[in-house]
Amino acid sequence: MRAARNPDPGAGGPGRLARERPLVDRASSARQPPAGDGPRQRPLAIQVREVTKTYELGQIKVRALRNVSLQIERGDFVAIMGSSGSGKSTLMNILGCLDIPSSGSYLIDGVDVSSLDEDDLSDLRSRKIGFIFQSFNLVSRTSAIANVELPLAYAGVDRATRRQRAEDALSAVGMANRLHHQSSELSGGQQQRVAVARAIVTNPTLILADEPTGNLDSHSTEGVLRIFARLNEEGRTVVLITHEPDVAELAKRVVRLSDGEVVEDRRITGAHDVPPALQHLKSAHHAPDANAPGTQS
Ligand SMILES: Nc1ncnc2c1ncn2[C@@H]1O[C@H](COP(=O)(O)OP(=O)(O)OP(=O)(O)O)[C@@H](O)[C@H]1O
Ligand SMILES: [Mg+2]
Repeated sequence: MRAARNPDPGAGGPGRLARERPLVDRASSARQPPAGDGPRQRPLAIQVREVTKTYELGQIKVRALRNVSLQIERGDFVAIMGSSGSGKSTLMNILGCLDIPSSGSYLIDGVDVSSLDEDDLSDLRSRKIGFIFQSFNLVSRTSAIANVELPLAYAGVDRATRRQRAEDALSAVGMANRLHHQSSELSGGQQQRVAVARAIVTNPTLILADEPTGNLDSHSTEGVLRIFARLNEEGRTVVLITHEPDVAELAKRVVRLSDGEVVEDRRITGAHDVPPALQHLKSAHHAPDANAPGTQS
């Protein structure tokens, strides 16, 4: 596999975030050609084929996913909904290669992940996928910047480059003035933005977020959604789980799970259209800017 070599998320340096400035480098391979009439040039971002997942707890079997098939084009922005226990996180963990299906297959960019060994799998996870957990999963008693540097450290990026890219990613989410705060010294919205920075610092093509706004107030929710929308506008595929219908309506497509099955798959706008979140949240202020007052959540 190719080594990670794409530079900074945001080459403009830390500090003020211009509206036009990409959150991650536009030159990245994630930029997708618009859908045309010609043959598909690149494979689908995600192909889930008849996936089941059964958890076995002693004698008890929990069928968390039942024959789920799902295709996601590159550049799409998909909201996954469904009641508690319907299998959303189970699906997301499979999409993020954090778990494997009991049966069926999962292809990412056309590659069947079951064909990869552990090394290739962790390489794929660290280069292609940005995963955002509902519970932030930041390392406690560790500064924001050190948290964001972590995936780069795992990828073997040198210290100076790591620091610069982490600073840029934190600036992009409006956290340039909180680099050295520990997780416990940040608000929920700020911690979630650090988690987003950590997910985008490796310049992934696929952003997976499990209820990223579940614990946030409406102001922080908008800030985080705007970040996702901008990443999506830059060509990145975004899949997010949400319980909130208002949040789902800001995606391009809504997939609903019930009892481990897909029961609804509704398109709101084309996979290559401007993300609805950008249109609807445009009138509010821009992505949280570290230097602007009143944007700290
Ligand atoms: N590690 C596990 N072992 C056994 N059963 C599990 C495990 N993880 C999930 N389950 C079961 O699988 C089902 C689907 O769980 P999942 O976490 O995917 O739901 P969810 O849709 O994400 O729910 P929520 O909205 O509450 O987060 C549930 O019935 C749950 O109890
Ligand atoms: Mg869940």
